[in-house]
This record gives sequence, structure tokens and C-alpha cells, in this order.
Amino acid sequence: MAQKTVKKKKALFVTVEGLEGSGKSSLIKTLEGLIKSRKLSCKIYREPGTTRVGEKIRKILLDKNNSEISPHTELLLYLAARTQLIEEKLKKDINIYDVIICDRFFDSTLVYQGYALGLGKAAERGVDIFSLGFVPDITFFLDVDPKLGLSRLKGRDRIESRPLSFHNRLREGYLQLAKINSSRIKIINARASLGEVSTAARKLLEGYLENR
Ligand code: TMP
Repeated sequence: MAQKTVKKKKALFVTVEGLEGSGKSSLIKTLEGLIKSRKLSCKIYREPGTTRVGEKIRKILLDKNNSEISPHTELLLYLAARTQLIEEKLKKDINIYDVIICDRFFDSTLVYQGYALGLGKAAERGVDIFSLGFVPDITFFLDVDPKLGLSRLKGRDRIESRPLSFHNRLREGYLQLAKINSSRIKIINARASLGEVSTAARKLLEGYLENR
């Protein structure tokens, strides 16, 4: 008699986006706690990074001494780090874990390189090609006043050191992207207290976990 096999569902793919100093790390810890309290398995990635090669690319990208990196080179390096993460880890992990949380994903490229650096179409095409078909199920965008976010930082890397006008454009870009993708991207007011931010995100995530 044929054995009945239960095929595991693909992991819920959650991404967290935000401006500098918006509190992504704290939110990710909260979400991880919620997922684990439901006895679900969870894997956390960060972008750029997570893989050995991705972490090396991250160092190059964030090093203030690398001021000569051109906008297109920057775009290609972010795409390269992402593709490495997808091919080395995500493709496999999506069939193993219940939930995968990624600290930033392709929305960062669309906003930072596409919108704020002005690479538009090149960023869109790069994202289309090199995300290899992976699209988050839900994206939390932590919305904070750029000035307030920057004031929370201890030091500033190459990207964080850009002028306030760049960070203001980032916020604009994220809000536009969230409008276009309103069913996927959820805006969370990150000016609120940590407790309020956690409650808002937990409620949204719980809905997704229940509907799985
Ligand atoms: P993090 O410090 O939030 O981990 O992110 C690293 C920096 O890289 C942050 O300044 C945002 C930036 N970034 C881009 O410019 N484009 C991208 O595609 C990604 C993933 C991050």
C-alpha cells in the first residue's frame, strides 16, 4: 500500500526593512520569540551578509574608507551578496524551517540604490534577475523620522554617513514602495515605544501564522 506522505509547507518568508536606527534588531528578536513560543522553527538572516562571502561583501560595502565605490558597483555588490544568500542558504532553508526572517532584502536595493541613489531601472532589473524568484510573504517597514533614527546610532558606516537629504529620500522611497505593494509591505510606526511596535508587529504576524 502506498505510504501517505505529508509534504512540509514552505517557510513563511518575512523581511524587515527600515531606515538607519529604526530598531530592526529589536523587532526581529520579538518576532523570533513569538514564533518560538508557538513551537515553530525559525531562521534569521541579515543582508548583506549571513554567508561567509556575503559577510566579506558587507565589510567592503560598509567600510568608510571605500569612498571610491561607484553607485553601480554598490548595486552589484548588494545583488551579489543576496544571490549568494539565496543560492547557498535560502533555497534549502525554505523547505526546512517554518519561518525565515531576513533583516533587509530586495526592497532595500530598490529604495537605497534604485530610489535614493537614482539607479532606478538598473536596480529594478537587477532585483528581478538576481532575487531568483524569491519574494517575501510579508515585509515590515519600520517608519521613523530619519533624523531621530540617525541620532540613535553609535558610529556611522559608509552608507549611514551620507547626508540627511539621502536619508530623507530613503523614507520617501519606502513609503512609495509600501503604497504600491500595500498587501505585502506593512508600515509600522517606529517612533512609538518598543512595546507598541512589538504589539503591532506581533498582531500582524500572528494573522499570517494562523492562516498557514
Ligand atoms: P544594516 O546595517 O541595516 O544591516 O544594513 C546595511 C546597510 O546596507 C544599510 O545602510 C542599508 C544598506 N543596504 C543597501 O543600501 N542596499 C541593500 O540592498 C541592502 C540589503 C542594504
